[in-house]
Amino acid sequence: MKKLLSAVALSAVMLTSTGLSAKEIIIKFSHVVAENTPKGQMANKFRDLVAERLAGKVKVEVFPNAQLFGDNKVLEAILLGDVQLAAPSLSKFKKYTKKLQVFDLPFLFNNMDAVEKFQNSPAGKGLLRSMESKGLIGLGYLHNGLKQMSASKPLRVPADANGLKFRIMSSDVLAAQFQAVGALPLKKPFSEVFTLLQTKAIDGQENTWSNIYSKKFFEVQPYISETNHGALDYLIITSAEFWNGLPADIRAELEKALNEAVALGNKVAIEKSVKDRQKIIDSGRSTVLTLTPEEIAKWRAAMKPVWTKFEDQIGKDLIAAAAASN
Ligand code: LMR
Repeated sequence: MKKLLSAVALSAVMLTSTGLSAKEIIIKFSHVVAENTPKGQMANKFRDLVAERLAGKVKVEVFPNAQLFGDNKVLEAILLGDVQLAAPSLSKFKKYTKKLQVFDLPFLFNNMDAVEKFQNSPAGKGLLRSMESKGLIGLGYLHNGLKQMSASKPLRVPADANGLKFRIMSSDVLAAQFQAVGALPLKKPFSEVFTLLQTKAIDGQENTWSNIYSKKFFEVQPYISETNHGALDYLIITSAEFWNGLPADIRAELEKALNEAVALGNKVAIEKSVKDRQKIIDSGRSTVLTLTPEEIAKWRAAMKPVWTKFEDQIGKDLIAAAAASN
């Protein structure tokens, strides 16, 4: 009898769990950064909110540190349905739209307030849907922050970068930006940057304080120039097929949870841009160089021709709208 009862209990558990997993929607969220970053915190918050509010209906599984896919593969994976959510940097969409390249233009935004203002403007919001015909929907932006340049030698003026190899994200605008100062840009996945720097296969890279800190780039780069020359923000992306196929009530709950998670991620971004910078300085492993306004003006002037070069691809109006947010 006891045996029979436990067999019944077991099959009930199995049935329940099979029943649950049949109905439960799984959202795999793949990203490339560490968990203690704006994106890492945002993704985990989203997972936790969904667990609280949609238990048994939706489950979010987060895969950080490029465990599942690097950013060069994740958009394809979304279209194939292998992953449902990702938040690649805005520099990584050129296969699907040229418009988002606007965010890479050097010295376009004076600060993160301008980036935020542009993202919330009609032009900025319009970009969320710029890849719908390709099957991708942008659900919102997420901040990381302004980029700094790190290198094996002090970079104060553009001539200092001449002949140096810099890792860049897969963006033609970023390639042109480094070519404009006589440097050699190399498009490489984020997951390879530390080793490339450590083995001196490259001389430098550009990134935000939180990425430089969390991936320990500062331990293998003796100098970081505080250039604030461009923004590194993210687009939260999903497939149109998946998103439009969700029941409306679930989609609304997910949107709400995403907005709350983004609010947290943006708060973390502001904090990290100050605290991780300070932690790097305190470590004594890398010298942070503050540039004078005259030095910054030289970088700006050297890189400004990149705007004209990409004007046709991005659109003059879009560039003007972004510049107007300063
Ligand atoms: C990079 O590749 O440097 C960044 O896009 C990584 C990230 O997601 O912040």
